[in-house]
Amino acid sequence: MKKSKSAPMKKKSSPAKKPGMDKKVIAKPKQMAALKAKPSLKPSSKKQEQRPDSMVADGKHYDIIQMILDDHKPLKRCIEILKNLELSLSSRRAAFNEFAPLLTIHAKAEEAVLYTFEKTEVDMREEAFEGDVEHALAAQMAEEVKQTVDKDIWSAKARVLAELVEHHIEEEETEMFPELKKQANASDLIRLGEEYQSKKGEIKVDVLHPAVQKQQPVLSVRH
Ligand SMILES: [Fe+2]
Ligand SMILES: [Fe+2]
Repeated sequence: MKKSKSAPMKKKSSPAKKPGMDKKVIAKPKQMAALKAKPSLKPSSKKQEQRPDSMVADGKHYDIIQMILDDHKPLKRCIEILKNLELSLSSRRAAFNEFAPLLTIHAKAEEAVLYTFEKTEVDMREEAFEGDVEHALAAQMAEEVKQTVDKDIWSAKARVLAELVEHHIEEEETEMFPELKKQANASDLIRLGEEYQSKKGEIKVDVLHPAVQKQQPVLSVRH
């Protein structure tokens, strides 16, 4: 990916808040006693249930970069399995079955929110279009893997797919995100994070439950 030398378009504000940075809150002895005396029958409070996905347990927001880094972790775990031909075919097939839908959901949400945003900024447009191309190649390769019967060809294609996505993720993390941090301010990154989370929810329904989307309402007609 090329890096632009032009000046940042937006002025940075305060840095984005990161999860897990706060001190742990330890309950005092009296609070512990109260908790033991009155055990709650409900698994979580209504307030917690309504908490937006962009907020962590302490009520702080986290941004699109942190969300995408979190999404990359299970993909990387599957990639390591798919690349390792010493592992059994069944364990690599299981990794692929986990990897493929995760990749689709992640890539589509990234395109719809992050890449769309980056295309509005002259210094990030090229990287965003490159991301689109790599996603399309990965999606095409994943389809080929699904349709491959021969186990040796399946292994070869799955490994190439894993290496392609590994390279793509590395570029995002080491080139795209540092540039994004220069170009976007903290509130942009949090707003994009909320949009990313929402988009992922919509795409999950399409990917994991396609039959629900295809079902047409049955109209009863009285004669
Ligand atoms: Fe991507
Ligand atoms: Fe990504």
